[in-house]
Amino acid sequence: MSIQIAPSILSADFCNLERDLHAIEAADMVHVDVMDHHFVPNLTLGEPIVKRICEVTDLPVDVHLMIEDPDRWAPEYARLGAASVTFHMGATHAPVRLARQLREMGCKASFAVRPAEPVEPIFDILEEFDMVLVMTVEPGFGGQKFLDNQMNKVRRLRDEITRRGLYTLIQVDGGVSPSTAHIVAEAGADVLVAGSAVYGAEDRTKAINDIRDQATA
Ligand code: DX5
Ligand code: ZN
Repeated sequence: MSIQIAPSILSADFCNLERDLHAIEAADMVHVDVMDHHFVPNLTLGEPIVKRICEVTDLPVDVHLMIEDPDRWAPEYARLGAASVTFHMGATHAPVRLARQLREMGCKASFAVRPAEPVEPIFDILEEFDMVLVMTVEPGFGGQKFLDNQMNKVRRLRDEITRRGLYTLIQVDGGVSPSTAHIVAEAGADVLVAGSAVYGAEDRTKAINDIRDQATA
């Protein structure tokens, strides 16, 4: 399975979103961070903007919900055309029910853990998910320092997925750049989210390719 790169538009120019979406066509998907000022201390965007993103880009839209009550709101993003929706362990009440609902709508279901949350509680329900997101920063902001102490979590998850022959992807989000990509890839991640490392670069295509090259080197 080859490494996939998912630029996060959190670091894009929200007044030039269409331009900034077209600038990342070398990527495999676009990562959209939805924050609600409650689950995390930041506020970004919601359904109307995700709807337009889905219409404007040819890339699969990967929605990362950092909101309270994803059980209520996640299906809305699937309905709008998201290819995958991620919700957090600390926010959902019925992750299996929600994952099944998303999958029935033709949307991939993904479960996220924050740095202080263990991944083991997901093991018993792993086959319900297409992807697990291991956060390598505290969710809420772009441009934070990569937490390499999360790599054991990624390795334990990789071992469990391999041992059971599952197809669940591992996504890593936070502080991923050309200089940390190889660490993440070596630990066993499949999907690398990068916000500031892509949108902070002059040449976004080069930044995407640099991350991919470092991850596969
Ligand atoms: C943070 C978001 C990330 C963010 C990553 O809570 O989930 O997707 O955009 O930004 P960087 O890559 O700058 O750490
Ligand atoms: Zn994210």
